[in-house]
Amino acid sequence: MAIDRIVNTTAAASDDDVAEQELEITLRPHDFDNYIGQERLKKNLKLAIRAATKRGEPIDHVLLYGPPGLGKTTMATVIANEMGAQIRVTSGPAIERAGDLASLLTNLQDGDILFIDEIHRLHRSVEEVLYSAMEDFKLDIMLGKGPSARSLRLDLPKFTIIGATTRTGALAAPLRDRFGIIHRLEFYEPDEIRKIIKRAAGILKVKIDDPAAGLLAQRARLTPRIANRLLKRVRDYADVNGDGIIDTDLAHKALGLLEIDELGLDPADRLILNVIMEHHNGGPVGVETLAALTSEERSTIEDFYEPYLMQIGLLERTPRGRKVTLRAWQHMGKKPTSTQPSLL
Ligand code: ADE
Repeated sequence: MAIDRIVNTTAAASDDDVAEQELEITLRPHDFDNYIGQERLKKNLKLAIRAATKRGEPIDHVLLYGPPGLGKTTMATVIANEMGAQIRVTSGPAIERAGDLASLLTNLQDGDILFIDEIHRLHRSVEEVLYSAMEDFKLDIMLGKGPSARSLRLDLPKFTIIGATTRTGALAAPLRDRFGIIHRLEFYEPDEIRKIIKRAAGILKVKIDDPAAGLLAQRARLTPRIANRLLKRVRDYADVNGDGIIDTDLAHKALGLLEIDELGLDPADRLILNVIMEHHNGGPVGVETLAALTSEERSTIEDFYEPYLMQIGLLERTPRGRKVTLRAWQHMGKKPTSTQPSLL
């Protein structure tokens, strides 16, 4: 389902979203020097790139995973730039048949990078073709059907696949095993988010003072995509209601209008916490029940809402379902109920 919210990290669904996406692309760093955060990942990738360059080979296949909005696509374009390689961008659901993949792969050149977003959504039949392509740079295709069918093996250029997924668990093990470099993108530190906001403000020529940048950083869910969207919304507010300069007073007012609280939660997050507290005494409650009670897709809850709520210690995943923490009760201004005795 399309969720129209400031913290939305899904793909474009409307003209407004297209404008947001264009903005995001403008703000994307193109090299490691301009990429703020993900230090461990950058260190590992730099090493792999230097080694591959020294050997005159393409870099090993890379799998990036983690919650949306943390920079998986951005990192893929940075890797391509740092390698001086061409990048082609596609996504799991866009490759419908093995033939689509064959045409993508045969059009690549030596050293090219093929970025596959949402790689966990590849069709099984496509995935199987990808195995030998990734491992041996060979493409096995069947020509015709029935008794006259023949198989053909084509040589492919030496390419690199960069796959991105919100969950590695959803990836078939044989596919996961074919990536030499597998990394999780972590949530950013608030100070990194503050720097990302300052950088974006510089590019967009938005005047924001340091305390206001700090305030937005605290409410951006530790996620660059959301930080940049908040900046844009607050800039709109400043253009209409102020003199175009963002200070803390103005940022507070704009964030209030957007109903984003001190922890960066919006009404949809608070609804999830509320439902667990009010209907299930704080949990545990199964994710399917939670999805039904909040009218959200299960995958939306798992991929978008939960990672941040867990990161900041408001929600726990247990074998019996989701549970809120004492911090969540406190944040929502409620008293824990007696079925969560450990919190009383
Ligand atoms: N814009 C979005 N993500 C960024 C990052 N990690 N570093 C700098 N600018 C960004």
